[in-house]
Amino acid sequence: MKLDNVIAVRKNKKIYRDGEKCIKVFDKSYSKADILNEALNQARIEETGLNLPKLLEVKTIDGKWAIVYEYISGKTLAELMEENPQRIDEYLEIMVDLQLEVHTKRSPLLNKLKDKMNRKISQTTLDETTRYDLHTRLESMPKHNKVCHGDFNPSNIIIDENGTPYILDWAHATQGNASADVARTYLLFCLAGKNEIAEKYLDLFCEKSDTPKRYVQNWMPIVAASQSVKGNENEREFLISWASVVDYD
Ligand SMILES: Nc1ncnc2c1ncn2[C@@H]1O[C@H](COP(=O)(O)OP(=O)(O)O)[C@@H](O)[C@H]1O
Ligand SMILES: [Mg+2]
Repeated sequence: MKLDNVIAVRKNKKIYRDGEKCIKVFDKSYSKADILNEALNQARIEETGLNLPKLLEVKTIDGKWAIVYEYISGKTLAELMEENPQRIDEYLEIMVDLQLEVHTKRSPLLNKLKDKMNRKISQTTLDETTRYDLHTRLESMPKHNKVCHGDFNPSNIIIDENGTPYILDWAHATQGNASADVARTYLLFCLAGKNEIAEKYLDLFCEKSDTPKRYVQNWMPIVAASQSVKGNENEREFLISWASVVDYD
């Protein structure tokens, strides 16, 4: 396997292309359990019939864990949005339709969103009263079991040469409430400084799915809290302020 064509670099992983294969190589510091969880999620989601690159191998390369996926040639929606800002409405339509399709799927063995959120809330630096309020809020949410991507953003969607969309990066997938998944996408746009797009996205999702905006907004403090666990220093301040908001008007 040749690792000389780097296609993306992250803090603790590198993504390479070798012909028809895409190889995600994780640093030694990366949790082995998280890497295997990503591969397992991917295998589970393949069974739902959604369009995603196939998982080919999980192996070690020079002592580092690596996941080998089918390489999808095309452009990410993030690249397309950069290149053609005037087509943003069209791209958001594609994105929302895809996310709605994800939410129609079920995968009973996938980790539960509520379990994950409860763990994340406990791991935050928030004071105990705020954590208590967030745990209580989470508990009061309706019990749903929809497949949620967990990091649904334009860099995780590739449109191939025929215009067929593929959804990548299932590391954070769970089953639970679609509104939580939507709140995370909204927040990710905001963290990227794209507030206007965030609002457009949320309006479009709510309109297409006939969801009251408040359902999504009710998840914002929980999702912000969970995101603050991995967020960098600047992001954390913003996320903590969101997590501390008890009610939206
Ligand atoms: N199977 C693939 N085919 C083509 N490009 C890919 C594939 N997987 C990842 N990429 C590219 O690498 C980038 C990062 O991969 P991703 O799995 O999303 O990692 P991360 O967890 O760091 O976000 C993607 O945004 C995409 O540009
Ligand atoms: Mg990604």
